Amino acid sequence: MTPKSPIPQVHIETFGCQMNESDSELVRSMLKREGFAFTEDRERADVVLVNTCAIRENAHKKIYAHLSELKGLKKRRPLVVGVLGCMAQNLKNELAEKEPLVDVLAGPDAYRQLPMLLSTALEAQEQGFSQKGFALDLSEYETYEGIMPDRDSGVNAWITVMRGCDNFCSFCVVPYTRGRERSRDPENILVEAREAVARGFKQITLLGQNVNSYCAGEWDFAKLIRAVADTLGIDRVRFTSPHPKDFPIALIEAIATHPKVCKHVHLPLQAGSDRILDLMGRTYTGAEYLALVDRIRQTIPGVVLTTDIICGFCTESDQDFQDTCRMVERVRFDSAFIFKYSERKNTIAARKYPDDVPEHIKGARISKLMEIQRQITLERNRELIGKKLVILVDRDATRSSTQGMGKTDGNITVVWDKGTSHFVPGTLITKRIFDASAATLYGE
Ligand code: SAH
Ligand code: SF4
Ligand code: F3S
Repeated sequence: MTPKSPIPQVHIETFGCQMNESDSELVRSMLKREGFAFTEDRERADVVLVNTCAIRENAHKKIYAHLSELKGLKKRRPLVVGVLGCMAQNLKNELAEKEPLVDVLAGPDAYRQLPMLLSTALEAQEQGFSQKGFALDLSEYETYEGIMPDRDSGVNAWITVMRGCDNFCSFCVVPYTRGRERSRDPENILVEAREAVARGFKQITLLGQNVNSYCAGEWDFAKLIRAVADTLGIDRVRFTSPHPKDFPIALIEAIATHPKVCKHVHLPLQAGSDRILDLMGRTYTGAEYLALVDRIRQTIPGVVLTTDIICGFCTESDQDFQDTCRMVERVRFDSAFIFKYSERKNTIAARKYPDDVPEHIKGARISKLMEIQRQITLERNRELIGKKLVILVDRDATRSSTQGMGKTDGNITVVWDKGTSHFVPGTLITKRIFDASAATLYGE
């Protein structure tokens, strides 16, 4: 259904992970095709879409705070509000029944219905009443094949290669918000990669909640990443997030040997204690994880390793936490995202285990682990001082227009004084590193 003129202006705000960033690009494409326009300016929008995340309670809180801002806006003038993404899927009943602000709810597999839902809501509003619309079915097949994302500008193009997750780690809400695993057709992925490069993108990041369990006929993830990296004119290929269970040697070798595949592996550890790993349902032990790290480091010399860790999971004792600290000291990750455990309704952990680590202990543990990792990150970054590194120029540094900013192959941020030179985003340059903090390398 095409909306009536004048053309409705849509403003979209995206929270959560890169999968949501990528989904927002699909949503934009689908809506533009149906006659909607997009605006950066929320004040001018007829429709505000909020693409939401449900991974931790903080994410919920942030989005609720954001929705209450929209209430003010909606009091002043006609506005259609749509909530998309994982929180829409997960809190459908709460949002549909208790949140008068929300006109439209659409889960991650139902975005094809958005143009119709928004048109209906806009038309109803024009006639002076409110018509709510919800599309929340999860699908075993939807991969949005045939829809070319309307990409954000920049040097990086996201390409979602698989959707959903079948792992059911006991702490995690994603299998409930994004449904079952399904992989896209490899030929379509390659067409998208070629299109992105033709439009000037220099880097492609392959996305999936379990990106390396990609499987389509004879194609596994190792074959896919090689084929994408063979795209003519591409500079870099990255991927996120992989699960440690799907790292066959063929994949490690693809990363090691293909010059366009970045030597960066994000390898979520979650915990260092075997007892906790088992309760989490992660399917590996600490020793197996370490063996994988050794295999990766031996095969990909100089690889940058990053991770995710949860502190204060159900029943985590001081001893369990010490195991995690020791593991972090042993692996010496280049950097880590460290989270406090946040119970998610209906997950296996919420149903089976007590969320019994007191908040102040979760807080103390996360601070301690962050400090350990900050020191390691600093030391590892300082090991790069004196080295010449290839940097993909991104944009001006956030804090200063006299500095340029870019990323190393390992995804570490580098800034440098531009002086009078002009660096075009998307070019590869070489810089000698002369200083380093835990967050940034400084190039000459
Ligand atoms: N699919 C990715 C993870 C996506 S979520 C993977 O398996 O690696 C990103 C990270 O959020 C997870 O790795 C985990 O560390 C964290 N996380 C997920 N659920 C959480 C919860 N309930 N509480 C705290 N952190 C959580
Ligand atoms: Fe969540 Fe585990 Fe799936 Fe990652 S692999 S999305 S942590 S259930
Ligand atoms: Fe959040 Fe959903 Fe991504 S819960 S982390 S937006 S998959």
